[in-house]
Amino acid sequence: MNRVSFPCLVLVLALVFACRSSAAFNLSMGSSLSVENPYQTLLSPDAVFTAGFFPVGVNAFCFGVWFSEPSTSTHNLTVVWIANRDEPVNGQHSKLTLHKNGNLVLSDLNRFTVWSSNTASNSSAHLHLRNTGNLVLFAARHNVVLWESFSSPTDTLLPQQLFTRNTQLISSRSVTNYSSGYYSFYFDKDNTLRILYTGPDVSSLFWYDPWLLSYQAGRSTYNNTRIATFDSLGSFTSSDNLIFSTIDYGAKLQRIFRMDPDGNLRSYSRKGLGDEWNVTWEAVLQPCKIHGICGANSYCSYVPSTGRKCSCLPGYIMVRNTDWSYGCKPAGFSLSCKSNAKKEFGFVHLPRIEMYGYDYGVYGNYTLDQCESLCLDLCNCTGFHYKFGDGQYQCYPKAQLRNGYRSPAFVGDLYVKLPKGLLNATFRDPNNMCSAKLTEQLDRTYERSNPNGSIQFMLKFASALGGLEVVCIFVVWFFVTRRSSGDKKDSELEVLAQGYLQAAGGFRRFTYSELKKATKGFKEEIGRGGGGVVYKGILSDQRVAAIKQLNDCNRGEAEFLGEVSLLGKLYHMNLIEMWGYCVENKHRLLVYEYMEHGSLEKNLSSDVLDWRKRYEIALGTAKGLAYLHEECLEWVLHCDVKPQNILLDSDYNPKVADFGLSKLLNRSEHTSSEFSRIRGTRGYMAPEWVHNMPITSKVDVYSYGIVVLEMLTGKNPTESNVQWDEGGGETYKKIIVQSVMEKINLAAHHAETNMGGEDEEKLEILVEVALQCIQEDGNARPSMSQVVEMLLHREF
Ligand SMILES: *[C@@H]1O[C@H](CO)[C@@H](O)[C@H](O)[C@H]1NC(C)=O
Ligand SMILES: *[C@@H]1O[C@H](CO)[C@@H](O)[C@H](O)[C@H]1NC(C)=O
Repeated sequence: MNRVSFPCLVLVLALVFACRSSAAFNLSMGSSLSVENPYQTLLSPDAVFTAGFFPVGVNAFCFGVWFSEPSTSTHNLTVVWIANRDEPVNGQHSKLTLHKNGNLVLSDLNRFTVWSSNTASNSSAHLHLRNTGNLVLFAARHNVVLWESFSSPTDTLLPQQLFTRNTQLISSRSVTNYSSGYYSFYFDKDNTLRILYTGPDVSSLFWYDPWLLSYQAGRSTYNNTRIATFDSLGSFTSSDNLIFSTIDYGAKLQRIFRMDPDGNLRSYSRKGLGDEWNVTWEAVLQPCKIHGICGANSYCSYVPSTGRKCSCLPGYIMVRNTDWSYGCKPAGFSLSCKSNAKKEFGFVHLPRIEMYGYDYGVYGNYTLDQCESLCLDLCNCTGFHYKFGDGQYQCYPKAQLRNGYRSPAFVGDLYVKLPKGLLNATFRDPNNMCSAKLTEQLDRTYERSNPNGSIQFMLKFASALGGLEVVCIFVVWFFVTRRSSGDKKDSELEVLAQGYLQAAGGFRRFTYSELKKATKGFKEEIGRGGGGVVYKGILSDQRVAAIKQLNDCNRGEAEFLGEVSLLGKLYHMNLIEMWGYCVENKHRLLVYEYMEHGSLEKNLSSDVLDWRKRYEIALGTAKGLAYLHEECLEWVLHCDVKPQNILLDSDYNPKVADFGLSKLLNRSEHTSSEFSRIRGTRGYMAPEWVHNMPITSKVDVYSYGIVVLEMLTGKNPTESNVQWDEGGGETYKKIIVQSVMEKINLAAHHAETNMGGEDEEKLEILVEVALQCIQEDGNARPSMSQVVEMLLHREF
């Protein structure tokens, strides 16, 4: 420290203490704390907590307890208890008095009692703020507790504070408004801990998942004690078996556990005075599943940069311009009963939007037409869900459209009932950054020759999404992904449903030390590339994992979390499953399932794959990519399809790895600006990258075609003597095609000896598909789902 500044510091500290000199440790009978003197406060003996008046609005004050030290960067007080959150007092003449009868009373200029401890008729008492943050009124003689703030929490639980059948945490109305909000955390009548949303017009339980029975959610209903505690090491224990540790469990830190205004229950910690609070646990991992965030007739969707956003359903407009909890109302139409409903109303189809609850019932084995006419006949039916389950299509007509959220994992479509006149109208939602119009521009995208036009728009759009340098993942407005669910294969739907369950489970945050331990200090390297080194590790629950340490990921924590949680939600049997991630200081790691047989590259060089297996691998890989391109609402382009990124499980089922990575990493492999947008691996890269043409899902189709050719010939395009240049892989292509032809001719010659006729047929189909995929003109290439169709329809 600078020598001159030291005496200054001492002086400043002395002044601070002088100013605080009116802060006391005890309030005795007959004395009071006044709102007019901000330094009249109570301090805990270790000075960590302060009790006193704090402003909550213009000339409005509350009495409460807070952490003495605000976060240095935001200057926000961390208030942990409030006496009068819904009845702030005047900035003059208000005071907290400990009356001679032992009653602690908060009074206002006009109101004698705003709040009281109801402890009159005690001959002696004193008020004391303990080191735990508990404000306690003691009967002086026997140190009997007459009243304590810990028994009436506001929205926060502190370590050592018992949570009981008589207490609940109620969220604040907003981050800046401390009055009672919409969410409460409490022990329900069945002895389990729940979160209840109580909004302006409805209420509903949403945590734990309301469709689960308590035991399915890991809760017990049998213990009637209804007690939960939370300690300063980060462990939470409840009588209903809800037991968890925070991600930083074990360190003795300042901690709080709070029902937040956004409906999530979180635990926070901070290391020292003035630090920011870090989230160390949260109840709901998918923020759109929180009820009431987007009110009636609106739906919540995931946005990487801000977490989530609300949008009105088509045909509906916002009720209150700034407050989504009031939802949306019909844009000038009514659904009242009309005899000619069938003529006047129709439906807008919105894939993959869930609206939980408010069903008239479930109608099994209904066709879409039957479901539509059912809803038209019910005069208050606002729309319906149509989804596949239990081996048949089911129809769920809705009385109200609430708890809406859009998720790539949700299996089912929403049909909103609207007057025919509104069906084709375009609704522009000002909060919605990707409306249908913008998407049209997105599709054209990026011509460098036109820097003022679409590219600038693209860049703005991209930075709005999270500051990407080049967009590899397109978030495309949902209405234009027009595939109807009707023609989806049942098996595909089941796979998705399975994914829905899985996605709801395991995805979590790991600490760096956890992963270090799992990999025994990053010892066993199993792969390299795609932005980092991959290590084998064994997690604390004994699962074997592949842990990827990202090298040059310069994404900030929030951005990284946004992207990663999106990737964590993707599930398909042909995509590597992501179990979690770690973001800590400079460390950025991803935790994946471990694949027994390693990469396709490794297996191609050995001779374990027969033609049948190769065919299955080509098909599985195509399914995984098709899911990325089309099933996901957010179009995810892989941009680096190659045999190293196709992994094989113990049954040689392929799983695509490293998808979405191009977005996580801000790579700049080539310093020359000409090449700065190039992603992928030479040899597998589509000509569009080189020719500066729009990047669409067809770049992955091209790479896929090259991979199939490589599977057929064993010739690695990166090892060929061909120089990769502005001509794309043209020369390589010629060589490899020639080689394929030779192989086929060879195979034909040996048809009787080496290969069965079936194998030969497979080979021909693969060649045919691969050649279509590597066409120079991206538009001429099939889509990944067409490839799947082509391969499927020739199954043997
Ligand atoms: C806080 O929210 C309550 C309830 O919505 C409202 O009545 C009150 O005016 C708000 N206070 C401030 C300071 O905005
Ligand atoms: C569904 O309905 C069709 C025609 O009405 C019928 O043939 C079929 O057996 C039904 N399926 C089930 C599972 O009930």
